[in-house]
Amino acid sequence: MPGFFIAFEGGDGAGKSTQVKLLAAALQGKREVVVTREPGGSDVAEHIREVLLNPNHRIDGMTEALLFAAARADHVSKVIRPALEQNRVVICDRFVDSSIAYQGVARNLGIEMVRELNQIATNNLMPDLTIVLDVSTDAGLARAQEPNRMENEGADFHEIVKDAFIELAKQELARYLVVAANQSREAIAEIILQEVSERLK
Ligand SMILES: Nc1ncnc2c1ncn2[C@@H]1O[C@H](COP(=O)(O)OP(=O)(O)OP(=O)(O)O)[C@@H](O)[C@H]1O
Ligand SMILES: [Mg+2]
Repeated sequence: MPGFFIAFEGGDGAGKSTQVKLLAAALQGKREVVVTREPGGSDVAEHIREVLLNPNHRIDGMTEALLFAAARADHVSKVIRPALEQNRVVICDRFVDSSIAYQGVARNLGIEMVRELNQIATNNLMPDLTIVLDVSTDAGLARAQEPNRMENEGADFHEIVKDAFIELAKQELARYLVVAANQSREAIAEIILQEVSERLK
């Protein structure tokens, strides 16, 4: 695949959306960039996003995992793969690791099951680089605005999620960059740009 696929991961309020924008702006003029997000990123997946994040919905873990995977299948086939085939840099706000951390670990469905489900959904597409923003749960939740269905979970849940991202990074260091997110936006953006520039060479 000719393009370069970057995913941002981390708990709620870690600063993912902020850094996605800063990185896209920094790459402007150097590479063609596609910014996208999950759940969502394609018409069908954005509809599934509304179902998933609606605080009035009660959704069990398995249904949640399947809905995320369905949204991802559409997003990958309609948006991400076509962009990579055109040699674009795709920057995605959350991807498979969020499903592994939230549904696999925090909701106890099991890492392997969620990973396999997502390998099917994405036809084995993996990010070239995953950037994990590591923020303390308290700071993240304090930063997060309008709580959605996930953000209404307790602090323990978020602590488990946060640890799961770090654990995933440890298992495959070459594909990850973990950044301490208690730094200024600019300092974090600088670290990320350096790593991405190196890898785009
Ligand atoms: N390094 C930082 N220091 C202080 N505040 C920050 C930093 N980065 C982002 N913020 C602020 O924290 C809030 C959450 O940031 P952002 O929306 O980027 O996080 P997120 O990881 O995308 O959250 P969510 O999971 O809820 O989508 C925003 O108000 C943002 O301006
Ligand atoms: Mg965000």
